[in-house]
Amino acid sequence: MSKFIIEGQKPLVGEIPVYGAKNAAIKMIAASVLVSGVTILDNVPDILDIQKIIAILEKMGAKFQRSSHHLEIDTRALKASNPDPTLVAAIRASIVLVGPLLARFGTVSIPHPGGCTIGSRPIDLHIKAFRDLGVEVTEGKNIYTFRATHQAPGPVVFSNISVTATENILLFASAQEEKITIKNAAIEPEVLDLIVFLSQAGAKIAVQDRTIKIEGTKNLKAVKHRVIPDRIEAGTFAILAAATKNDLKITQMNPKQLTALLEKFSQMGIAFKQGEDFLEIKSSEHFSSINISTAEYPGFPTDLQSPMGLLLSQAQGQSRIKENLFEHRLGYLKELQKMGGNVRFLNPQEAEISGPTPLYGARLESLDLRAGATLLIAGLIAQGRTEIKHAENIDRGYEKIEERLRAVGARIKRVS
Ligand code: EPZ
Repeated sequence: MSKFIIEGQKPLVGEIPVYGAKNAAIKMIAASVLVSGVTILDNVPDILDIQKIIAILEKMGAKFQRSSHHLEIDTRALKASNPDPTLVAAIRASIVLVGPLLARFGTVSIPHPGGCTIGSRPIDLHIKAFRDLGVEVTEGKNIYTFRATHQAPGPVVFSNISVTATENILLFASAQEEKITIKNAAIEPEVLDLIVFLSQAGAKIAVQDRTIKIEGTKNLKAVKHRVIPDRIEAGTFAILAAATKNDLKITQMNPKQLTALLEKFSQMGIAFKQGEDFLEIKSSEHFSSINISTAEYPGFPTDLQSPMGLLLSQAQGQSRIKENLFEHRLGYLKELQKMGGNVRFLNPQEAEISGPTPLYGARLESLDLRAGATLLIAGLIAQGRTEIKHAENIDRGYEKIEERLRAVGARIKRVS
């Protein structure tokens, strides 16, 4: 277990590069199960969640070659076996292996994939969607078995929007000869990037609002694909610049994926300049409070809710933040209170944040990866020294974050 130590209030200047989207790359690694040949991915971040998905497929016989952000995947020797339950339980995203393994081998059993501190993370939407497609799903004691049948697939109609459930069905459907329709689908940029990947592999996929029509094929071919930039990393760094009141340029990213955040910045009076692949934050001494309510894309992303909560602690006035997607995603505000943050919890999903309040270094715990990144930023703002335990939680989603922050002048180090 390692921790980060940060000396706050150092001036920051320069550029922070953004790496590939964790939540797109994971699904393309899963998609490599569907194709015969070598899948080639570029811009794949070297983070724990990616290493965990690779470990699951390596144990089943897949071969991986990685050099920096370039990843080659050969699944031709993949054995028809169940993924290692312990490895599956260690990462929630492993749920997206069900669609591809089921399509390839006809059956797959998994334990409930890892939840995390932000909520129970049920998989009922995944199960119902597969049953809509005629897949037989039996639930044992913490083991779920999926078995493909010859029943004609019905339309999948999601009662609630789910990113990985949409992706699971997309992956399975891309390898089926019958036409499959998904209604009330998630349309996050990572879902759309997976659709680009699967289309390049030979599936015919049309997206209209939240309806996706898929015409799959048994002969998907291996593709070469560059993963889109990680919009959550990009948004986290943009909030870091605004909250620490430094001019910073966030590069290798796509500002068009951050419309919801940039609309809030404009309303708060935070100045920025955007280009094709960069966002320049102009330090604003004062910016005003605002209310945030998270929603599915294109609404305000839940994965930026915690960094935004920190920014609101530095805004002029009273803000309200409402987390609508997960039941335990305001925990970081308790850590912020330890630093001097002025927070009033209205209910488990809603809080009032008053600012601007000075923050003071403290000993903190990083709960989930987004909360961990938030506390890192808080440490950069705070007077004095901040320690953040469980640095590995942050490593799950942000590659070499302390190196990228040191490069713009942050005083941060990792100690075991
Ligand atoms: C994906 O999780 C992301 N993870 C999450 O990012 C992200 O926060 C989330 O989408 C929302 O955008 C990956 O892509 C690996 P959901 P996912 O299914 O698919 C409920 C990060 O920090 N639900 O869209 O698991 C669920 O409880 C992570 O990178 C059911 O009720 O999220 C939640 O309230 C955190 N039943 C809501 O739907 C289900 O079967 C949205 O969840 C599935 C989900």
